[in-house]
Amino acid sequence: MIRQFGDTFVLDTENTTYCMKKLVTGQMEHLYYGKKLYIDREEDVLSLVEKHEFAPGNTNIYDSDHPQYSLEDMRLEMSSYGKGDIREPFIETVHDDGAMTDDFIFESAVIEDGRQKLSVMPCAYDDEKTVNELTIILADKNYGLKLELHYCVFEGRDVITRYSKLINESESDVRLKRLMSMQLDFEDSGYVFTTFNGGWAREMNRHDTLIYAGKHVNSSYTGSSSSRANPFVMLSHEDTSEDHGDCYGFNLVYSGNHYEACEVSSFNKTRYVSGINPQSFEFLIQKGEAFETPEAVMTYSPYGFNGMSQIMHEFVRECIVRGKWKHKVRPVLLNSWEAAYFDINESRLLKLAKAGKDVGVELFVMDDGWFGTRNDDKQSLGDWYVNKKKLPQGISGLCKKINDMGLDFGIWVEPEMVNVNSNLYKEHPEWVIEIPGKPHTEGRNQRILDFANPQVVEYMTNVMSDVFSSAAISYVKWDMNRIFSDYYSKYLPKERQGECAHRYILGLYSMMETLTQKYPDILFEGCAAGGNRFDLGILSYFPQIWASDDTDALYRVNGMTGYSYGYPMSVVSAHVSACPNHQTLRTTPLATRFNVAAFGVCGYECNLCDMSKNDLLEIKEQISIYKNWREVLMYGTFYRGRCGNVHEWTCVSKDRKRAVGMIMQELVQPNIQFEQFFPKGLEEQAKYKFFNRDLRYNIKGFGDLVNTASPIHIKQDSVLHNVISKFVTMPGECEEYTSSGSVLMAGVKLKQGFAATGYNDNTRYYQDFGSRIYFMEMI
Ligand code: DGJ
Repeated sequence: MIRQFGDTFVLDTENTTYCMKKLVTGQMEHLYYGKKLYIDREEDVLSLVEKHEFAPGNTNIYDSDHPQYSLEDMRLEMSSYGKGDIREPFIETVHDDGAMTDDFIFESAVIEDGRQKLSVMPCAYDDEKTVNELTIILADKNYGLKLELHYCVFEGRDVITRYSKLINESESDVRLKRLMSMQLDFEDSGYVFTTFNGGWAREMNRHDTLIYAGKHVNSSYTGSSSSRANPFVMLSHEDTSEDHGDCYGFNLVYSGNHYEACEVSSFNKTRYVSGINPQSFEFLIQKGEAFETPEAVMTYSPYGFNGMSQIMHEFVRECIVRGKWKHKVRPVLLNSWEAAYFDINESRLLKLAKAGKDVGVELFVMDDGWFGTRNDDKQSLGDWYVNKKKLPQGISGLCKKINDMGLDFGIWVEPEMVNVNSNLYKEHPEWVIEIPGKPHTEGRNQRILDFANPQVVEYMTNVMSDVFSSAAISYVKWDMNRIFSDYYSKYLPKERQGECAHRYILGLYSMMETLTQKYPDILFEGCAAGGNRFDLGILSYFPQIWASDDTDALYRVNGMTGYSYGYPMSVVSAHVSACPNHQTLRTTPLATRFNVAAFGVCGYECNLCDMSKNDLLEIKEQISIYKNWREVLMYGTFYRGRCGNVHEWTCVSKDRKRAVGMIMQELVQPNIQFEQFFPKGLEEQAKYKFFNRDLRYNIKGFGDLVNTASPIHIKQDSVLHNVISKFVTMPGECEEYTSSGSVLMAGVKLKQGFAATGYNDNTRYYQDFGSRIYFMEMI
C-alpha cells in the first residue's frame, strides 16, 4: 500500500515500511526502511525526520535560504555531485555547456494501482498479489531534465523494487555517465556488507565486510553479471545470524555490468547504491529521449539471513520466473559434456542415453560439439548447422531415436559467440565486437557477436529458431563462454561507444524474449561458463541456470549455500558427475554428490556407460528418491543450518507435511563420535516420522581394515579384494524416530560415527565429505 500525507510518502508491505518526505529545499529525504511501522498521519513521521538547525563545518550549504542544510549530511532518496553531496552519486551527467552538476528537486508524485512495465528490460510482476507503484518526478533546476524515481510495492511479498528514468526535456543533448537504479541512505554505520564473489568453477563465496568508514564496491565489468561478483548482496549487523537479526537483501534485474557500492560518510551515515556499472558507460540522450535503468529489488527481514532469503526465494519464484515451467518440477537430465566433451557421435550419444534411461533419467541433453566442425573449442561457433559426420541423420534423426527410448531431447547452443575460424566470421566480420584494425584479446578462442546491432540479433534469432524447430527439442542450454574485452560496436558511431555494453544486453533480452515466446514449451537453461551470468535478468526468461562448471560436491555445497542467500534452489541447476572430479580431481562419495545436487535442479553429467554395476544401482535409487521428493526439494521452503566443517540444509513443503534434510561434513574430526542433525521449519506440535534411506557400503572403503573381519587375509586392492567388493557390501546405520517437530528441531542425535574403535551396522560410516539425507513426514 502506498499513502501520501502531505509531503510524506509511506510505502507498506505486509511486514515492512519504507518512507520519505520532501525537504523544504526540494530534495526527497529518506526517513526509514525496515520493520513495519504504523503511520496514519503526517505528524507520525516527525520523530523520524532529522532535525537540522546549523550545517556542519567545512561543508557546503545547499542554498542561502536554508543555511541549516548541507546535502553531505542528509539521508536522500537520490543524490548527485555538485551541490555539496560528495558521496556516491545516484546520477552523473555532462550537460551541453560542459557542466557536470545536477540539481534535481521534487516536482510531483503519482501513485498507481498495479505497476508500469519497463520498456526495454525485463521487470518483476505479480499475478497473485497486489502491486502499487509510486513515481516521484524530480526536475533539474537548470537544464530541463526530468528524473523519475519509481517504487513498486509488492505488498504480499515484502519486496519493494526501484528503478529510475531520465527524460531529456531540454533543447540539447545530455551525456549520461551514471544513473543508478536505487539509493538507500541509513543514519548510522557499522553495517556488514555481504557480497558473493569468486571466479570460474568457484562462484558465490560469501564475503562479509564490516564498514565503519570508506567505501566497498561490488561490481562487474565482464559484460555479464559475472562469477566475480554476483549482483545479489546483503546488509546486516554484526550480530545477525541465520535466524535472528536485521537483514536487508538487494538484487538487480540485470545481466550486464553492474555496480553496488556501500559507503560510510564522515558523518557516519551509510549509503548503498546499485545499478549499471558506470565504468566506461556513457549514454547520449538526445532532446526528447529518455533512459531507463534496470529494476533493483530490495527486502528486509528481522529474522536473519534465512528470513531474508526466504522472501527472496518466493519473490524470484513468483515474480521473476515466468512461463510454463514456473511451477513445474524439472525433469532429471543426463548431459553429455563431462561424459564425452567434443567427442560425440550418434552411436555414442545413443548408448549414453540408453544407460540414462535404464537408471531413470527423463531428458537427454546433447552438449557442445554437434555443429560445423566443432571438434574442439577453436572453431565453428556461429555455424549452427549439424555436423553430418557425427550425426548422419541430423538432429531430428537423433532426437527421434532418443524420443523412441522414452526420453525427451535437449540441445546446447552458444548464440552470442563466434569463432574467427567460422563461416559466419568470414562472411560478417562487421557483426563482431572488436576495435577495427586493432588486435583483439581472445577468450576461449572466441569473440562476441555485436548484439548492440539489431540486425545481428535478428539474424541469430532466426538461426536459433531454425535449430529449435529442427526436431522435437524440449530443452535448450544457452551458454556464453567468454567475458568482454575491447568493447566496440561497429554499428554505433564513435561518440556512442560507451553504450555498447548496455545495448548488448538490450539486444540479448530482445532475442531471449522472442525465442521464449515462440517456444513456450522448451525448458531453457541459462549458462555462462557456469555461473558467469546468474542473475534476475536471465531468470526473467529462463527458469533455471547452470550454477557452476564445478561439479565437485565439496565446492557445490559451498557454492549452493552461496546461491541460496539470494536465489531459490528451483533455479540452481546441479549435476552428479564422475570422480575424481574433472575440475578438482577430488574424490567424494557418490551419495554425497547426489545429496548435494538433489537440493538443486538435479541432473547427471557422467559417462554412465563406464560405471560399475553398483554405482548404477546407486544412481537408479537416487533418481527414484529424487522423483519422490523433488516437489519438496524444488518448491519447499529452504533453510540453511550450520555452515563450516558441517553443512546443514532443510527443505520443508509449503504445508509443512514433508521435509528433506541434508548434513555433510568436510573433514573427519578424529575420535568425535557424536553428531546431531538440526532440521528447521517443521510444525512445532505436529508429529513427524524422521528416517534415512537404506545404506550399503563398499567394503573397499575400509581399506585393509577388511582383514579385521575376514577369516582369510585379503591384500588391499588385489583381485580378491575387488571381487569380494562386488558381492559383499556393508549395511549402513538406520535412523528412525517419531516425534514432534519441536523435539526433532532440538537436534536429532545421530548414530555413533566410526572412530576407529569398532564398526557395526549401528555405526555411521562417515568419511571426509561424508553426508546423509534425511526425510521427515508428518503423521
Ligand atoms: C561451458 C559450460 O558451462 C559447460 O557446461 C559446457 O556446456 C561447455 N561450456 C561446452 O563448451
